[in-house]
Amino acid sequence: MADDKVLFLDTTLRDGEQSAGIGMTGDEKMEIARQLQRMRVDIIEAGFAASSPGDFEAVSNIAREVKGPIIASLARAVPNDIDQAWEAVKNSDRPRIHVFLSSSEIHQMHQLRKNREEVMEMAVSMVERAKSYCPDVEFSPMDATRTNKEYLFQMMEEVIRAGATTINIADTVGYAIPSDFADLLMELRQRVHGIDGVTLSVHCHNDLGLAVSNSLAAIQAGAFQVEGCINGIGERAGNASLEEIIMAVDTRKDLFNVETGIDTTQIYPTSRLVSRITGMSVQANKAVVGENAFRHASGIHQDGVLKDRSTYEVMQPERVGVPGSSLVLGKLSGRAGLQSRLEALGYNLSREEISAVFESFKDLADKKREVTDRDLEILMDEEKRVASEPIMYTLDQIQFSGGDHDVPTATVRLIGPDQQLHTDASTGNGPVDAVCNAIDRVVGCSCSLVDFNVQSVSEGIDSMGTVTIRVESDGKVYTGRGASTDIIVASAKAYLSAVNRMLAADEEASAPVAGSTPD
Ligand code: KIV
Ligand code: ZN
Repeated sequence: MADDKVLFLDTTLRDGEQSAGIGMTGDEKMEIARQLQRMRVDIIEAGFAASSPGDFEAVSNIAREVKGPIIASLARAVPNDIDQAWEAVKNSDRPRIHVFLSSSEIHQMHQLRKNREEVMEMAVSMVERAKSYCPDVEFSPMDATRTNKEYLFQMMEEVIRAGATTINIADTVGYAIPSDFADLLMELRQRVHGIDGVTLSVHCHNDLGLAVSNSLAAIQAGAFQVEGCINGIGERAGNASLEEIIMAVDTRKDLFNVETGIDTTQIYPTSRLVSRITGMSVQANKAVVGENAFRHASGIHQDGVLKDRSTYEVMQPERVGVPGSSLVLGKLSGRAGLQSRLEALGYNLSREEISAVFESFKDLADKKREVTDRDLEILMDEEKRVASEPIMYTLDQIQFSGGDHDVPTATVRLIGPDQQLHTDASTGNGPVDAVCNAIDRVVGCSCSLVDFNVQSVSEGIDSMGTVTIRVESDGKVYTGRGASTDIIVASAKAYLSAVNRMLAADEEASAPVAGSTPD
């Protein structure tokens, strides 16, 4: 019987979003937050409210709508950040303000340009300010693992006295080594007054590939909260992979002797959702959620697994929600087969929704020998995307030609907001460029492409590909996604989806605000 419970703070929506090249819309953040709620994470760090109006809105919406987990907003140790964080989380049943401030001399000297006394005073007064709003206050000494211990311990004592309820040791630059990190935690537990009355947390980055190991060492040394991101996404080399820590604690209960409140069967759906939304693929050999994590290739291993799975599996795929596959879906499959597979993947659809997706499934099955789970996820995403995103223009037809001697040329036919067909053609540096130029000509816009990411979803030459595109117009970035067995068609859909978002935002911005126009 385990002694205690370890809490998991998921920061996919905040630190995860700091991964280079990622930008999530408010709706996408809400979708991930709801999935984290299903997975029963203890705390969702929903964003950094003061960083942008979009983040503020996303945090407020999540705080209002996602019940169960604590909802936290990050805040620098400055009054405006703390005020905004509170405004954003105050409608949660369980709000938290997470204040951070650099404790290391390197950061204080080169970044903050303040002396250690000034920084100490900021930490105390800003924790007090946060506490005046919210009973649940987390404080993170940033770059704690490169901080002079005496100073770090003093800072911890003072912020605990000021009202912090969680102290989070941040290995901001992934500098820690497990044994050393465990020693630091054990020492601070002995030396910091008041530490027993608060939750001791850790936040590890993966610069040396040790974020998960450090987090596990910390749990063994007495940490009761760990922070991380799904799929280990995050700033630079990423944050600790939350799913890996959870499954290590779950699988080796004999060593950790702690419970988790996590529904581990939601791990795989969460990983897939985060990968699809962020456009960051999960490497095949990634622990717990990678494509190969439960595949056995060598004869000896296969023989063992067929006799008894425990020979080569330390956890069962069902435990993390990887659906078993007994049914092959293809063009001869019927509605019932499709429905049963979608249910196994966690989709509960009405008859009408099944009918709609069945059409797209049949189209796809005509092009592909076998429709895999990944293909189905993409189909479902496409259905949802089309149903939820602003539709100004839709793709009706597309034709392109190219080669290493010809000028790439594309013709597109779009259905416009007037429900009429609009056709135009263009050349480009390559077929994708030609398609985007042709769409620009029809729509009458010109935005610049800032990111283009292609992901092959399943194996084989006939695999589905998803394209994520980011375009910029007037300093704002819009993301679009599209999927198809043809990468150019997927690119056209993705570009059009980004353009539709941009047009909708323009329309909203130019709509007269009630009462603002003269009578
Ligand atoms: O890595 C870090 O130090 C952080 C803090 C804001 C907790 O993300
Ligand atoms: Zn971080």
